[in-house]
Amino acid sequence: MKTTTITKALVQHHQEMRDLVAEIKKDSSKFIYLKKHLDVHHELEEDLLLSKLNAKKKIKDESLESQEEHVVLNLLLLDLADFPKDHERWMVKFKVFEEILDHHLTEEEEDLFPEAEDVLTKKQQEDLGAEFIELKEHRLSVALKTKPEVAKKQ
Ligand SMILES: [Fe+2]
Ligand SMILES: [Fe+2]
Repeated sequence: MKTTTITKALVQHHQEMRDLVAEIKKDSSKFIYLKKHLDVHHELEEDLLLSKLNAKKKIKDESLESQEEHVVLNLLLLDLADFPKDHERWMVKFKVFEEILDHHLTEEEEDLFPEAEDVLTKKQQEDLGAEFIELKEHRLSVALKTKPEVAKKQ
């Protein structure tokens, strides 16, 4: 496995999700993939990175802010999952969600992650990166298997 760091691996996953957002704007049935990716992303980001940053005085506030934004995003994901996709309001809701998601991802990439790189050792960043990739692949393969039409895509 190629060596990466936790922040690089997270940014790469952000990009995968941005690509999915663009696809969903053309085909709302793909929303389920994004929800599964984001559920896994939030869980792992919190368990592997934010939990460590919360213990660092310099970065604690920003880390907690990221975690609270996950709470908001998770509520919006549930609303989008429950709302009928053929209703004209669904795409309006999705575009509002996209703005909030984009703000969150950009804030992590521009503010939180560079500071995380300052407070974690290179070794910690690499170990967490390897752990993220392994757990992400495992959890996504389990999550995507629960829908036959999604499993086919793998
Ligand atoms: Fe996040
Ligand atoms: Fe993230």
